[in-house]
Amino acid sequence: MFRLGNISIPSRCLLAPLAGISDLPFRMLNRSFGCEYAFIEMVSARALVYTNRNTLKMLDTGIEDRPLGLQLLGNDPKVMARAVDIVNQMPVDSIDLNAACPVNKVTGRGEGSGMLKDPENIEAVLRVMVARSAVPVTIKIRTGWDSSSLNAVEVAKRAEQAGVAAVFVHGRTRQQGYSGLVDYDAIKEIKNSVSIAVAGSGDILNAELAKTMLDETGCDAVMIARGALGNPWIFKELPAFINSGGAFPAPKKSEICIVMSQHLDEMCGYHGEEQAVKMFRKFFGWYLKGLAGSHALKSRAFKARKKDEMQLLIDEMIKK
Ligand SMILES: Cc1cc2nc3c(=O)[nH]c(=O)nc-3n(C[C@H](O)[C@H](O)[C@H](O)COP(=O)(O)O)c2cc1C
Repeated sequence: MFRLGNISIPSRCLLAPLAGISDLPFRMLNRSFGCEYAFIEMVSARALVYTNRNTLKMLDTGIEDRPLGLQLLGNDPKVMARAVDIVNQMPVDSIDLNAACPVNKVTGRGEGSGMLKDPENIEAVLRVMVARSAVPVTIKIRTGWDSSSLNAVEVAKRAEQAGVAAVFVHGRTRQQGYSGLVDYDAIKEIKNSVSIAVAGSGDILNAELAKTMLDETGCDAVMIARGALGNPWIFKELPAFINSGGAFPAPKKSEICIVMSQHLDEMCGYHGEEQAVKMFRKFFGWYLKGLAGSHALKSRAFKARKKDEMQLLIDEMIKK
C-alpha cells in the first residue's frame, strides 16, 4: 500500500514518469498488467500556460487511466501557479514538480535537476503549487546536483514543510545521468528525515532489485522506469515477489509477440500509422531484448514504415 495524501494505492510499484514514452497507450498497456499509478509525460508549465498544441495532445487521458499523476517542469512560482490552475480542470490525481530532469537545455534554464541548486526556490514553488492545487502535490528529485552537493535531505525537508504529499527520489546525482550506482543510503536518509511518503527510483529492473531497494532504504514504494520498456510483465513480477517471494515466470515468446501486436495496434489508433510505426521501432527492440534470433529483425524494424511491415516482423519472430 502506498499513500499519496488522501489516495491509497494498493501496490508499492508505480510507473515512473517517462518523457517521450508514457503516452496513453503505454499507460493503459501497463495498467492492464497491474500498474496502479502512472504519470502523464512531463509537461512544461510554460507550454501549458501558453497552450502549445503538442502539449495538449500529451494530456489526453481516459476514464480507465486513473489514478494518474501529472508532472510539471518549471521554476517560476507565478507560471507554476497558472499551470496548476489549468491542471485543476483536468482529471488527474496528483501534480508533481520535476526537479530531476538532467537534460542540459532544461537545467540551463534552472529547471529540472537545475532546481536542486536553489532549494529555497523549490520550497517557494511548492508552496504556491500546494496552495493552488486541488490534488496532492509531489516532487521528484535526484540525490543532488553532483557528488559534492548531495542536498536531497534538505530539499525533501523543505518539500515536507511546503505541504507536499510525497517525495520521489531517483537515487543518482544529476552528474551521474542514468548510469552508475544507485545511492540506497541517500534514499534511506531521506526516508528517515521526513514523515511523508517516499518512493525510490533507480535500476528497478527486476523483482530482486525492487525488493533490495524497499528493504535497504525503507522507502514506501518503488518507481519502475527503464524496467517497464517492452516489459509490462514487470507489474506482475514485482508484486508477486515483494508480497510473497513468489517467482513470476518469464513470458513466452508467443505471448510477447501478442502483446507487441496489441501495443502496435493501440499506438496506430492513437497516433496515426506513420508516427506510431516510427515510435514503435524502439519498442520492437525493447520487447525482444535478449531473445535469440531477434538481432536482424530489430535492424529491419528500424526501417519499417507501415504497420503491416512491423506486424510481419513480429510474425517472423513468432516462427523463429
Ligand atoms: C526515456 C526516459 C524518460 C524519462 N522521463 C522522465 C520524466 O519526464 N520525468 C522524470 O521525473 N523522470 C524521467 N525519467 C527518469 C525516470 O523516471 C527514472 O527516475 C530513471 O530512469 C531511473 O530509473 P531506472 O534506472 O529504473 O530507469 C526518464 C527516464 C527515461 C529513461
